[in-house]
Amino acid sequence: MLGVRLLLIGAPGAGKGTQATRIADHFHVAHISSGDLLRAHVINNTAIGRTAQDYMERGDLVPDEVVLDMLRKPVTEAVAAGGYVLDGFPRTVEQAEAAYAVAKDLGVAVQVAVHLAVDPASLLERLVARGQESGRSDDTPEIIKHRIDVYEQRTKPLLDYYAERERLITVNGERPIDEVTWSVIVQLQKAQRLLAD
Ligand code: AP5
Repeated sequence: MLGVRLLLIGAPGAGKGTQATRIADHFHVAHISSGDLLRAHVINNTAIGRTAQDYMERGDLVPDEVVLDMLRKPVTEAVAAGGYVLDGFPRTVEQAEAAYAVAKDLGVAVQVAVHLAVDPASLLERLVARGQESGRSDDTPEIIKHRIDVYEQRTKPLLDYYAERERLITVNGERPIDEVTWSVIVQLQKAQRLLAD
């Protein structure tokens, strides 16, 4: 399968990073995580990192123009190398529209949006557990709840956006990690028509 261009949508803790790594490996394309890239900018104290840090610590979205600017180069390089699995972008309908405006003329727009559906109670449980183990600074109960609220308000409308364009696949993300991966791959195989674009 050539030129796979996917994105994952899911609440914080839905498993976007976990699944994006596996799906990108399966299709031999790049995994691009906006959250990982932003955290690297914060650690490296770049201009992007200095702008993003306060938003991330509060669990708010980083301004669209910062994220779009940051992603331009890695996405362009990934497209040239055969495709991408995007994790954490777009996060708003505005980001989706801005990305589409750039990508459509080049024929490199997203083919399929994969929604990982997980109950809020499981999200909280997963992220509190991760916070206790790895210490990601935004994995505290209060900030996790805020991130889930931000998802509900700002990111969830993307589900309608992609459904209206007949680009949305929904997978039950409550199941064990391997089962979720295979379910995504099977559903993508059933949606070959979308991947042919
Ligand atoms: P980001 O890094 O994208 O964080 P997030 O959306 O809050 O997502 P997480 O990384 O917490 O969860 P995930 O869905 O990737 O799940 P994971 O696989 O890690 O964003 C961080 C911040 O950056 C944002 O708050 C914002 O400030 C900024 N940002 C990023 N992108 C932006 C954008 N486009 N625009 C503006 N701002 C942006 O799994 C979570 C845990 O669950 C792990 O411990 C994992 O092992 C476990 N797990 C995974 N799958 C399963 C399973 N099936 N069963 C049991 N456990 C599981």
